[in-house]
Amino acid sequence: AENEIYRASTYAPVNIAVIKYWGKRDSKLNLPSNASLSVTLSQDDLRTHTTASCSKEVPEDSLTLNNASQDISGARTQACLRELRALRQEMEDKDPSLPKLAAMKLKIVSENNFPTAAGLASSAAGFAALVRAIANLYQLSVSPTDLSRIARQGSGSACRSVLGGYVAWQKGEKPDGSDSVAYEVSPASHWPDMRAIILVASAEKKDVSSTAGMQQTVASSALFQHRADEVVPKRMKAMEKAIHNRDFESFAVLTMKDSNNFHACCLDTQPPIFYMNDTSKAAIRMCEAINSTQPDEKPICAYTFDAGPNAVVYYLAEHEDLVAGTFKAIVGDKTGWEGNRGQNIKVRSETL
Ligand code: PMV
Repeated sequence: AENEIYRASTYAPVNIAVIKYWGKRDSKLNLPSNASLSVTLSQDDLRTHTTASCSKEVPEDSLTLNNASQDISGARTQACLRELRALRQEMEDKDPSLPKLAAMKLKIVSENNFPTAAGLASSAAGFAALVRAIANLYQLSVSPTDLSRIARQGSGSACRSVLGGYVAWQKGEKPDGSDSVAYEVSPASHWPDMRAIILVASAEKKDVSSTAGMQQTVASSALFQHRADEVVPKRMKAMEKAIHNRDFESFAVLTMKDSNNFHACCLDTQPPIFYMNDTSKAAIRMCEAINSTQPDEKPICAYTFDAGPNAVVYYLAEHEDLVAGTFKAIVGDKTGWEGNRGQNIKVRSETL
């Protein structure tokens, strides 16, 4: 029909890195200075839901997030749209009987199921859902690897939200970025008792965006060069091994060290960037205190902080009472965030 509306919906989960992406070697293509690795959080708990539609009646490309209109004129969003349209165009050229969707404008509607006030990084789930919703709408036959390559151009960390479980983003070697993609380290089922709790230290918007922060760090921090060239490559190997062996002690030590190393690079930036606040530091001390009660001080919880003050604490289900219980008793209901079902957050299994 002439005015037919085409539509597709999808979900994408949030991921929280345990080896951080910080720094671009190519800011146009969103290519990282180092590899990174994350845990995908369950989409029952934290996710973006996105519907993409198109018809001849849609006047212009648009995106709303939680009912607020978003600017999509930026180069990164445009790169995703351009690439997806080109793939659809290729299909239409091969099969002229297909409806001409590539020429139509897109209406994209997104919703996060977690409070925006929680100040959680949402660009990863956001771009992963956007790319997948459009790929579904266009009925593209693309692999998760292809999707991760496209989502990466929207937001680096988004490439890791295309897969479930324990996910790495390889740095890649090629100048065109075609090998800078995500891959599965282990499925969620490999280590199903991993849990996370999120402690909201401030609901305010971060003061230095990740894009600006990365640029300043790359330009001015000598510590960062060392991190990208020496520290992270070794740590990636050790972290993959820890996950393969379900070795929580190594996982925890690496996670905490990498968060601290990333924030040390921020501090080493000119002018210095402070993402952690006093509440963040209190959360670190709390983790240290819990870990110090254990035999041989073997860690049972691990904190990590992104480009903001909120802590994500990883632990195993068997230590739920001690870890989540201690934090909940201290922070109370108002400043924490737990899963929809009143449990703490699990690892998501499926791939988009
Ligand atoms: O994907 P971006 O550009 O929002 O950068 C994310 C950076 C960190 O969250 C701090 C680290 C990471 O690997 O997710």
